[in-house]
Amino acid sequence: MNGETRATFAGRISAVLVAAGSAVGLGNIWRFPYLAGENGGGAFLVIYLVAILLIGLPLMLSEFAIGTATHRNAVGAFRALDKRWVPLGYMGVLSSVLILGFYLVVAGWTAEYMIHSPFSSQVTNPDPQSHVLAFENFVANPWKPVLYAVGFGLATHLIIALGVQKGIERAAKWMMPLLFVALVVLAVNSILMPGGMEGLKFFLKPDFSKVTPATFLMAVGQAFFSLSIGLGTMITYASYFKKGTSVRATALQVTLLDTLVAVMAGLVIFPAVFSAGIEPGSGPSLVFITLPSIFSNISLSALWSTIFFLLLVLAALTSTISMHESATAYLEEEWNLSRCVAARMVTLITCLLAVLASLSLGMGKECMIFGLTFFDSLDYLTANIMLPLGALLTCIFVGYRFDKKLFEQQLYPDCCRKGEYAVLRFLVKVICPITLLLIFVNNLGLL
Ligand code: TRP
Repeated sequence: MNGETRATFAGRISAVLVAAGSAVGLGNIWRFPYLAGENGGGAFLVIYLVAILLIGLPLMLSEFAIGTATHRNAVGAFRALDKRWVPLGYMGVLSSVLILGFYLVVAGWTAEYMIHSPFSSQVTNPDPQSHVLAFENFVANPWKPVLYAVGFGLATHLIIALGVQKGIERAAKWMMPLLFVALVVLAVNSILMPGGMEGLKFFLKPDFSKVTPATFLMAVGQAFFSLSIGLGTMITYASYFKKGTSVRATALQVTLLDTLVAVMAGLVIFPAVFSAGIEPGSGPSLVFITLPSIFSNISLSALWSTIFFLLLVLAALTSTISMHESATAYLEEEWNLSRCVAARMVTLITCLLAVLASLSLGMGKECMIFGLTFFDSLDYLTANIMLPLGALLTCIFVGYRFDKKLFEQQLYPDCCRKGEYAVLRFLVKVICPITLLLIFVNNLGLL
């Protein structure tokens, strides 16, 4: 398939919304606030912002440049540039499928919470312990979370099957603005809660006494999970950019939007948590247990809960779409399959993984892989090993193997900014690989 007949997004706004759709996800609204809560609030935020600027943005520019230079899926892109690097493309596609395996499960939970919020009496139950029980019972139920995960997988499938323009682009164009409106409404509501200002202070005033070396590594890890970089997803998306779409402006805007959403998610969550007098470092259950129990104590609880989980569903869906597309585009282009057949294969495999991951939290609890449930091992393998490794290798490829002129052409097609380019290359060749190497070694428990 050549660059002429391939689908393209309508223009820069579409490119920004679609890529921001991938970046903005459970990582911003579920993972970022609980990591910040456990790691010193404002201090974590400062380190995270530095990580985004020094590592996140250069990596996103690199993936975009590979995509616009080749107009191919992640595997095809490396095949076109340097055959020896094709395994990096394969790892990206494989990791997308594995991440989807557990991401669909969590996405399914958000869908269940959104759907039951307007109807269930649990939403107004003021007893915090009842929310713990409700969550634990739901997750361990043998069929309900499984159905929701598969349902989420099928919703993703429908959008992918509609195609790049009619499916992915259209979905991002109405879901992303809706997501921003929901976020602003919720943030205003949270800050106005009595005692909300305390939360705002915790989140925005850095307390560096909680910072350890691990905090830096966690902030960098979160930065590239949140920006969807390291696994070739952004290579695939950039391959659909229309000719003339500015890679620099798009990367900058996507990074800004993604960071803005993470900060706003903090503005929604911390004031509410402090207003209710709850510990901010309550971990991954922050969104599914702590927040519902906070909502249950305010007026219009069903409404706030529905809006909040709608926000999570939208954010998760635009991200599952991007991971699915990464694998679908690979099968379609490298195996010469029709888009529908390719999409069906990806849906079948990812739903199967999601069913196993979901069951592993309930009736399959006894089956452990290296002491972890199947759900946790998918999370561990992808987030702690494949993602940092993919990001590290991508930097090395772009810094040392990717043609310097070709890279420059993607970023500055009609202008020349030698100084800026030199800084970028220094970041990609030196700063990013060293930091990523540290993360990688740390994640493997070798430090
Ligand atoms: N960025 C998404 C989030 O914040 C997750 C995600 C989507 C992702 N595609 C990815 C992470 C590719 C790594 C690689 O939830």
